[in-house]
Formats: sequence, structure tokens, C-alpha cells
Amino acid sequence: MEAVTKEQLDKWLEHVRIYANNGKVADYIPALARQQPEINAVAVYQIGGECISSGQIDFFFTLQSVSKVLALAVALMEHGEEAVFSRVGMEPSSDPFYSISKLEMEKPAKPLNPMINAGALAVTNMIGGKDSGEKVKKMIDLSCKLTGEETIQYDQEVARSEFESAFLNRSLCYFMKQNGIITGSVEELLDAYTKQCAILMNVKQLAKIGAILANDGKDPHTNKEMIPAHYARICKTFMVTCGMYNASGSFAIQVGIPAKSGVSGAILGVVKNQGGVAVFGPALDEKGNSVVGVKLLEILSRHLKWSIF
Ligand code: DON
Repeated sequence: MEAVTKEQLDKWLEHVRIYANNGKVADYIPALARQQPEINAVAVYQIGGECISSGQIDFFFTLQSVSKVLALAVALMEHGEEAVFSRVGMEPSSDPFYSISKLEMEKPAKPLNPMINAGALAVTNMIGGKDSGEKVKKMIDLSCKLTGEETIQYDQEVARSEFESAFLNRSLCYFMKQNGIITGSVEELLDAYTKQCAILMNVKQLAKIGAILANDGKDPHTNKEMIPAHYARICKTFMVTCGMYNASGSFAIQVGIPAKSGVSGAILGVVKNQGGVAVFGPALDEKGNSVVGVKLLEILSRHLKWSIF
């Protein structure tokens, strides 16, 4: 396993830029359809503190499904393992992230894992708060704590755009409500979930979260505990088995690091004993993963021997 240099990042990002032509931006959330496919960036945040980056590193993107890792961490810290996994399973799925079919087949109708939409909705439903605002605040607070920034916020337009068009996610919620997996108002849950998905970060901030996970939940500078090590391990394990959805198997072979993608084009990766990596490029493949991001991670992993396998 080797550290990366700025020259390498610049060279490889330039090399993969063209792959954006092989994908297209998510259009099922109207506000995301307006993203510019040519924007891309990468950051590698090393344990010890140095951050090497390339591309449009000050560009802020929404986390989308990358936020599922943060929501899981909040729910685990709040309720513990047993309670969380009474509502959501631990098994990968071969279905797309928005799929409803497995819910109907499982008894009880527990979502397969916390990384697919149904599972993340069940997790967000567990996070305590008198209203959606309090739930979202917990996720924003954790984001601030992990990145060391005080100003993390969510994109109101992207959140509203998804809230107004999230008919499939509403269906998942109603199915789970009927089966006792979620409780309370579906609209409140959708409000919290869409705001959680719209949390804004740049690649450096996201890579720092990866470095914390790589450092077993401890701050990469101070070694202060941010997430209990056992919960950091659970998050990383789900990132390996389910983080890239129904491409998690091929990603494990090609790249071999715990990673979580989002339909904005973000990917958060964890490099064992080394640090965190974040890539952004909004053009997606047919499974909803960033084409530039996956290609760049493949190159990084191959050259720097990042695979855990
Ligand atoms: O719920 C949704 O559909 C989006 N807010 C997030 C989905 C997502 O990011 C899937 N990722 N590849």
C-alpha cells in the first residue's frame, strides 16, 4: 500500500475525465438533472492529516446516498446494534437501490440492508426527534463534527425537488409502515430523508470522513474518538458488501475498498491504514455510480495497491 502524490492525482484525473461521456447525470430528481457532467474532483485525506486533491475541489455537491453511512452511524450511536438491526437487515441485494420487490418477499418485511433506499428510510425513521428538523440537525451536527467545519448545510432546492418527486420512496415508506417497520408520518420522514440526502460537501470534507472511518472512527489528526470503533467497522463492512449497490461485487474485484456512492456523482472510499478518498463526477453508469469516480478509484487502487483483498 502506497501514498499518492499530487502529480499522480492530476494525471489520473485528467486521464479519466473523458469517461464522463459514457454516463449521464441523474434525472429522476429534477434538480440533479441540471448538474454539469464535466465537473470532477478528487481528494485523498491521509491519516496524520495531509490532504492531496485535484480538480474542482471547492465545488459543493449533495451527498445523496453517501449520507446513508452517516444516518447509520447516528442511529447506531443513538440506539445500539440490536435495535437498529431489528428494523433493517445486513445482507446485500442484487436489486437496484430503489427496489421494492424484496420487501414483499422477506418476512418480516425488513429491508435487506441500510444502504438501499428502503433500509436508509427505516434507519432515518429510527433517529429520534420531535420533528424532521431535529433529525436532520443530528445528521448535520455529525457532519460538522466529522469534517471539523461549522457550516455544513443542506441544499434546499435539491431537497425540495426530491421531496416533490419521491413517489417511489413514498411507496417504500407506505409498504414499510403497513408492515410495522416504520412509524409516524411518511411526509415527515420523507422531509428528513430528502434533506439528509441534500447535505452539501466538497471532496476534501468528504475524504476526511473517509479518513476517520479508516482510522477506526478516530480523528486523523488528534486520534480523538468521533464514532465508536465497532460502529465504524459496521459502516465500513456495509460499504464493502452494499455500498455500490448491485455493482458492489464487481467494484470489490476491480477496486477492493469500502465505498459508498450517491446519485449526485459522489463516492466516499476508505483506504485501510491509510486514509479516506472522495471522488466526484456527476455522470452515472446504469447502476447509479459515477463513471469517472469508479474509473479513477480503479486506477488508484491498482497503482497504489489499495485493495483489501
Ligand atoms: O433516494 C434517492 O433516490 C436519492 N436521494 C439517493 C439515491 C442514491 O444516491 C443512490 N446512489 N447511487
